[in-house]
Amino acid sequence: MRIRDERPEDEETIGQITTAAFANMPFADGDEADLIEKLRATGGLTISLVAESDGKTVGHISFSPVRVNGRDGPWYQLAPVSVVPEFQGRGIGSALIVAGIERLKALGAETCMVLGHEDYYPRFGFENVGELSDNYPHRNPNFMRLVLKGEAPTGKVTYHPAFGEM
Ligand SMILES: CC(C)(COP(=O)(O)OP(=O)(O)OC[C@H]1O[C@@H](n2cnc3c(N)ncnc32)[C@H](O)[C@@H]1OP(=O)(O)O)[C@@H](O)C(=O)NCCC(=O)NCCS
Repeated sequence: MRIRDERPEDEETIGQITTAAFANMPFADGDEADLIEKLRATGGLTISLVAESDGKTVGHISFSPVRVNGRDGPWYQLAPVSVVPEFQGRGIGSALIVAGIERLKALGAETCMVLGHEDYYPRFGFENVGELSDNYPHRNPNFMRLVLKGEAPTGKVTYHPAFGEM
């Protein structure tokens, strides 16, 4: 398996991977592939990595900037991460998340947020913190953060505009 930055020719495949991964997820909006395109088009796709297995692109992860209390800072959000169903459960999602976090660190990121499953993200160091949930656009116990450096920001978290009004 190999993880690398997306290239222009990956864009369609990334959309297909994302659609396939989220197709049967009860929490999915069905707009996850569009979201990646909007992020890309508006300069919000800070990190976009793909995973290849035997030369086939089977996974994708992206990270975009967030604001806290209306301020830009070294803060990012992991979303979305996708592995095509037939390749799930083989460590590809984990490898994408670990590689993405390393990229964030290299960029000087201080905190990464995620809205995700409470059983999955803590293994990468994400933690749920009550005050964050209160300040997330929707109060949500699955909103977690990973502090990479410095102090965690506190305050209202706003996603990149590509996510639309939350
Ligand atoms: C989440 C996802 C990217 C993980 O990729 P993966 O390659 O299957 O993950 P890994 O093989 O590295 O890890 C598998 C582990 O993740 C767990 N897992 C996968 N999806 C999960 C979910 N939605 N909630 C909780 N745990 C989940 C599996 O149960 C497994 O746990 P185990 O290691 O204790 O057995 C992949 O399942 C996927 O694309 N899911 C659909 C889209 C999605 O839900 N994205 C995340 C939105 S927050």
